[in-house]
Amino acid sequence: MTLDIVVLPGDGVGPEVTDEAVRVLDWFVAKRGVPLRMTRHLFGSASWATQGTTMPDATWEAIMAADALLFGAVGSLDQKQIPAEERRKGSLLRMRKGLDVFANLRPVRAWPALAESSPFKTRTVAGADLIFVRELTAGMYFGTPRGIETQADGTRRGVNTHTYTEAEIARVARFALGLARTRRNHLTSVDKANVMEAGALWREVVTAIHAAEFPDVTLEHMLADNCALQLGRAPTRFDVIVTDNLFGDLLSDCAGAINGSLGMLPSAALSAPDANGRRRALYEPIHGSAPDIAGKGIANPLGAILSAALLLRWTAQAPAEADRLETAVEAALAAGARTADIALPGEAVLSTRGMADAVIAALDAA
Ligand code: NAI
Ligand code: MG
Repeated sequence: MTLDIVVLPGDGVGPEVTDEAVRVLDWFVAKRGVPLRMTRHLFGSASWATQGTTMPDATWEAIMAADALLFGAVGSLDQKQIPAEERRKGSLLRMRKGLDVFANLRPVRAWPALAESSPFKTRTVAGADLIFVRELTAGMYFGTPRGIETQADGTRRGVNTHTYTEAEIARVARFALGLARTRRNHLTSVDKANVMEAGALWREVVTAIHAAEFPDVTLEHMLADNCALQLGRAPTRFDVIVTDNLFGDLLSDCAGAINGSLGMLPSAALSAPDANGRRRALYEPIHGSAPDIAGKGIANPLGAILSAALLLRWTAQAPAEADRLETAVEAALAAGARTADIALPGEAVLSTRGMADAVIAALDAA
């Protein structure tokens, strides 16, 4: 069965890095027989400019029917010209909610080649290899009531609500505990149980599911502020970290410093499996549209390419091919391939396309 991959390049560097991820996936289709069919669709500000809507019906239908989405980035200056209602229609939050992709995987690792030579080496901790499971469809970014309201005295107040149901916590806890079993069998659950009600419930539910279903996994609880400190100080102590939507957003960016550049971090957002064991999925580099470097062909495509590796692992269910791609990235870096964001002064710098070429060359050579 050929898997339908909807490609949504988006804004800024999104199309530049997504093109390279698609080119790498094309290699796996042509050379390894991975059954993928990739189709580009218009959405967001690019679509607003030509179609008068940020989400054409055809794009939304394709998204809902797809086996997976490969997403670039959103965010452009023109977006301020787009009415709020239209912005919401084409938003990433709507896609995440529509696909119910509650488990957001964000792997972070220190690449040995960069630990030796990158300008970030003081922050690149050898051996760090951890993965966040960020809850993605509830909590602070979705809770109601929300909005900006005018109070009786005429002044305004912004409201967000941090809510989690037992079911929302339980499914992401199960996912993370199961993932820990496939790695080093260690889970850190991060919350603010000391000051937040939803955090107290989070800890209670994670503890109960661990005891009942995953007693073989080592579980520790950590307060979110301490986790920020430990990520800076001792990132090698972590294996899998499960946390809520807001803390996961912040802490995974903190952890990003470990690996050198924001441009190298991939992510996958996954739904619960259906009756056939298939999960809906949205793959994207964690960086945004990077307007400061867009259009120059210098963005690091490795975050997008490593997101394609996650697609091979989770959607194509081809873990050996995913490993092959991650090994090729490691080989390209070891051979000295550098984009501007990870180069030392004086080092030869590759373009976005050049870095992808180096990865494809490493795939051909392996
Ligand atoms: P950003 O991630 O776009 O850029 C932050 C810094 O990292 C910039 O200096 C940029 O040049 C650098 N950077 C990012 N990706 C890179 C790459 N592949 N290679 C080399 N350097 C890279 O975040 P920023 O500047 O805060 O936001 C810009 C726009 O992106 C905003 O409109 C924001 O809303 C949007 N955004 C979208 C996201 C998404 O689509 N999931 C996530 C984060 C931000
Ligand atoms: Mg973020």
